[in-house]
Amino acid sequence: MHKEYFINTLTPESSLTDFFLVKGISIRTGSNRKMFLDVILGDATGEINGKKWDVTEDEAIVLDQIKEGDLVRIKADVTEWNGLLQLKVLRIRKAVKEDKLEMADYIKTAPEDPAAMFDYVLNSAEHISDPDLQGLTLRFLRENREKLLYYPAAMRNHHAEMGGLLYHIKRMLMTGEKMCEIYPFLDRDWVVCGVILHDMEKLNEIISNEWGISPGYTLEGQLLGHLVQGVKRVDRMAGEAGIPEEKALMLEHMILAHHYEPEYGSPRKPLFPEAELLHYLDMMDAKMYDFEDALAGTPPGDFTQRVRTLDGRMLYKPTFNKDNE
Ligand SMILES: [Fe+2]
Ligand SMILES: [Fe+2]
Repeated sequence: MHKEYFINTLTPESSLTDFFLVKGISIRTGSNRKMFLDVILGDATGEINGKKWDVTEDEAIVLDQIKEGDLVRIKADVTEWNGLLQLKVLRIRKAVKEDKLEMADYIKTAPEDPAAMFDYVLNSAEHISDPDLQGLTLRFLRENREKLLYYPAAMRNHHAEMGGLLYHIKRMLMTGEKMCEIYPFLDRDWVVCGVILHDMEKLNEIISNEWGISPGYTLEGQLLGHLVQGVKRVDRMAGEAGIPEEKALMLEHMILAHHYEPEYGSPRKPLFPEAELLHYLDMMDAKMYDFEDALAGTPPGDFTQRVRTLDGRMLYKPTFNKDNE
């Protein structure tokens, strides 16, 4: 079955019939007391929200069978709402065996081979010279290799794709290594260890299946979040390994401070330069990902839809760009 419509190239006021992956689904009741279906659809190029209005009781029973991770066939109109594209779903049904679909065609994946990315990260960890930091980092990598190969870095935001967390760590490491050359007063050990461990507890914050599709957060993730979870985990691991208190606290501080602002979950701002750098490496990688992702399907000379993660900006795709020549 060939796909005809890709999410990142849809245009408003068009219609489509095609298969998509369900990434989130719920039946809700509107202010008019009528039920509607709220669905997040994905393919290899992106995600789009869909609404099916005026759902009847009988229909709701059928729609209730559709779950996150299912492939569905959709007939819909492409509309625009609040500067964002949305599908007005007219018909939706679960895909069946006869549709002959390949799951991999509908999954967004990081562009590099997961095993190679893992080896890159492992190699960086092996070059940490402090034995305590190296021990913690290697233990985390060895115990979580399998999950790291497919885990997304987020449910919705940057790197919400198969292998996204590893891709995020790998590119932060590449930038971090360069930064250590430019600012030789930085301690590479802390930079590398901080980068590899900063989002370690996303593995226990986000729920994900082996396709990197996430239906939601764990209870611990909802109540604590990956910063506090990370602090707890490092504290436990450091205790088990008998690591000096100051080292354990520094690493916990790096994790705790990497979101920088209290409103993003950090109760402390970074208090040493490697912790400050960690925040910028994290931000830069997330932002660059969002720019690249949003512009991927946009023709030169056009603007994107509003990008929620970039404060609603509509980005411009230049005509003069190396990729267009
Ligand atoms: Fe984070
Ligand atoms: Fe991160």
